[in-house]
Amino acid sequence: MTDKIAVGVLGATGAVGQKFIKLLENHPWFEVKEVAASERTAGRCYAEAVSWKQVTPIPEAVRDLEVRPCLPDLKCRIVFSGLDASIAGEVEESFARAGYAVLSNSRNHRMDDDVPLVIPELNHDHLAILPIQRANRGYRGCIVTNSNCSTMFLAMALGPLHREFTVEQVLVTTMQAISGAGYPGVPSLDILGNVIPYIGGEEEKMESETRKILGRFDGKRIDLADFPVSAQCNRVAVEDGHMESVSVKLARKTTAEEIAALWAGFSGPPQQLRLPSAPERPLVVMEGRDRPQPRFDVNRSNGMSTLAGRIRPCPVLDFKFTLLGHNTVRGAAGASILNAELLKAQGYLE
Ligand SMILES: NC(=O)c1ccc[n+]([C@@H]2O[C@H](COP(=O)([O-])OP(=O)(O)OC[C@H]3O[C@@H](n4cnc5c(N)ncnc54)[C@H](OP(=O)(O)O)[C@@H]3O)[C@@H](O)[C@H]2O)c1
Repeated sequence: MTDKIAVGVLGATGAVGQKFIKLLENHPWFEVKEVAASERTAGRCYAEAVSWKQVTPIPEAVRDLEVRPCLPDLKCRIVFSGLDASIAGEVEESFARAGYAVLSNSRNHRMDDDVPLVIPELNHDHLAILPIQRANRGYRGCIVTNSNCSTMFLAMALGPLHREFTVEQVLVTTMQAISGAGYPGVPSLDILGNVIPYIGGEEEKMESETRKILGRFDGKRIDLADFPVSAQCNRVAVEDGHMESVSVKLARKTTAEEIAALWAGFSGPPQQLRLPSAPERPLVVMEGRDRPQPRFDVNRSNGMSTLAGRIRPCPVLDFKFTLLGHNTVRGAAGASILNAELLKAQGYLE
């Protein structure tokens, strides 16, 4: 017998889906009871259906689960979605209509007016739009989204800066890992020894999602934060971890030391509520002049912190710095799980 909340994973065989399965093993509140994917894999047992790419074995409790089609008849209360965007939109809607809390990684609903796009440390108050979503759409459940992976780390760093100094302009150039493209992802002959200066839709996502997350909910709608973001996104031959070189213009004068202290001392509701997946520090400031680096730093804080370094004056805007985060953990599955923990802690699952 267990009093854990039964959860399902949609897209359980994919890169993000596997990370859900791994991160939910031994979760104190949630237990994976259902796994679902496409008709190609449905009907098989999970261990046979999946091409498992994690460094730990498939959890015993999940190995023999039958992969179900993505229909809203799963025996669980919450579904985590790591579905391909070609299908996620309508599948997630059908689950929310049927009463499930849907925690989505896909882009389809992130920018919908009545769907919260949540990073709990920054905009937990946006969850208060859920009653409006339910009324608008006739949902018994709800859809809560987390950001695109590269947006996550940018927004996390900009959030405290915007609150304290008011961000006016942002330039960001990313170096994104191949695991961000799912499995099998980018062909090896395209990426080995190479950099691909194009990731479809990624720049637009960073430019819009950041402003929604840092926008203000006035009780009726979410107004986007009032600063432009210009993003350039590149795929590089790194397994895990998205790096970002960022320049910002701020309305109020500050120093690199003040920014470092602000980030190092930053925390939010996940830390105050001691949510099970919350990193002790959402932003870790690294001292070394050549850090952070994906190979050495990406798994810090179990992949749930954003790592920042090289904070220095920028001769064009005001300051520049480097960010790094784990794209399939804090940038995807870990972010959804933290959002679900916040929903539970704030009483949205009752
Ligand atoms: N990878 C990242 O770092 C990352 C970060 C943030 C957000 N995301 C987003 O998360 C989602 C999943 O990404 P991923 O990298 O995990 O992709 P992926 O490895 O390609 O996995 C896609 C999953 O969707 C399932 N699927 C595909 N077509 C389906 C259909 N018609 N019906 C039902 N299920 C279907 C696949 O099941 P089968 O095995 O049965 O085909 C698989 O489980 C995407 O929307 C992506 O943009 C990814």
